[in-house]
Amino acid sequence: MNPLVPEFLADYLPTLIQLSYLVAAVLFILGLKRLSSPATARSGNRMAALAMLIGVAVTLFDREIVSFQYIVAGILIGAVIGAVLARKVKMTSMPELVSMFNGFGGIASALVASGEYFRIAPAVFQPEELAALSISLLVGTMTFTGSMVAFSKLRGLIGGSPVIYPGHKIVSTLLFAAFLVFTVLFFMDAGNAYLFLALAGIAFLLGILMVLPIGGADMPVVISLLNSLTGLAASATGFVLHNNLLIISGTLVGAAGLILTLIMCKAMNRSLVNVVFGAFGSGGVDAAGAAAANGKTVKEVTAGDLAVMAAYARRVVIVPGYGLAVAQAQHAVREVADLLESKKVDVRYGIHPVAGRMPGHMNVLLAEANVPYPQLFDMEEINKEFPKTDLVLVIGANDVVNPDARLNASSPIYGMPILNVDQAQNVIIFKRSLNAGYAGIDNQLFYSDNSYLFFGDAKQSLERLQKALKEL
Ligand code: TAP
Repeated sequence: MNPLVPEFLADYLPTLIQLSYLVAAVLFILGLKRLSSPATARSGNRMAALAMLIGVAVTLFDREIVSFQYIVAGILIGAVIGAVLARKVKMTSMPELVSMFNGFGGIASALVASGEYFRIAPAVFQPEELAALSISLLVGTMTFTGSMVAFSKLRGLIGGSPVIYPGHKIVSTLLFAAFLVFTVLFFMDAGNAYLFLALAGIAFLLGILMVLPIGGADMPVVISLLNSLTGLAASATGFVLHNNLLIISGTLVGAAGLILTLIMCKAMNRSLVNVVFGAFGSGGVDAAGAAAANGKTVKEVTAGDLAVMAAYARRVVIVPGYGLAVAQAQHAVREVADLLESKKVDVRYGIHPVAGRMPGHMNVLLAEANVPYPQLFDMEEINKEFPKTDLVLVIGANDVVNPDARLNASSPIYGMPILNVDQAQNVIIFKRSLNAGYAGIDNQLFYSDNSYLFFGDAKQSLERLQKALKEL
């Protein structure tokens, strides 16, 4: 009997618990749905947080596994770390933070399932529970070590280039086969804790070996995949614990992460297999060198001339990219847009699905600067508008506006859907040099007749433009 539950409620407790889990599951689904638009994302986030609160509170009533002192201490420590990180982490470091979240989510699932294994006499486990236990251990532990490698690559703690050695695929395949063999042995002798620990050890190594050969530049896709695996691990742990909410929420995370991974791959015109085994983005091309060698030249524009072009345009489309995030120029771009709107210019933003380094990167940045949502247009919508646009300001974006993706069949990014900014009347490119972007390739846009380069750090360049607009 649970001392926290009044006697008159005791009979109804199991039903009430399942009902609360159902409410939480529905809130998770509605929250996810609302996350699909910037206008509803905040409320979606709150709904999902409420669902999580219900889940945690009900589970604490339901089970008395650990003393409340430990739980309260854990919540306090976690809340302080979370609040500090949420305030301090820069937008450009968000993939690293998400990587950490995934790693801890994965290891938490594996540890909870392991706790259940050591708590209950293993002979009691049914074969399907042993299967769920093995999956949770494999996926949770792999996600943890894989995420730590991803984090270290993004942080620059280890080199970002793919780490490949002769026979690395054979070693990984053999390790995976060893995991399967040990799983069969574990099924036959579930009480043998050494077999359990061997499974954990193999999963630990597999996670490291899975992520080491992948280039640092592909880490965002890998992180999204690891996120999906975290969900799978949680769901498997749900089967071990017979906890419906964990099964549902884990499956939602798994499915959402996988869909996101596939969307990212599609937007880059790459397959998931190519991302995981392709070692892409490992060797950069010096675009400036390539341009000089080909005798191509670019035209530059001054802040004063740009201010005149912008102020007298009917429509200006702003295309943000990774460089805008690096320069933290989101507020400066909003201020330029405000100035242009005060001069009756129609200002819109064209957002490419993989602009930046993580999904939704540009939407989050612009939302932080309170750019109105109706001004944000996705790729399909804004592409129809470019032929009718007087001026495009490409700010710290490169690959996502490279016309080679449409026109040059020999380009590595050929087939990747891009923003067709080259179809506008004039294009101004804000960047610091002629260096390449993420894909490491030259961009023909820089040399076309209607393009002008505005060199400098994006934030400083926007401030120069602002000043020139005010002086008009
Ligand atoms: P990129 O092609 O990487 O180009 C960014 C440009 O920003 C660079 O050419 C750089 O040129 C410029 N830049 C950097 N710092 C700057 C600063 N402080 N001020 C001004 N400019 C600066 O970026 P993109 O167009 O946003 O494309 C994103 C790329 O990342 C795509 O290839 C995409 O496939 C890949 N990717 C994205 C994701 C997601 S989910 N977003 C995931 C994986 C991969 P300079 O150095 O000359 O300044």
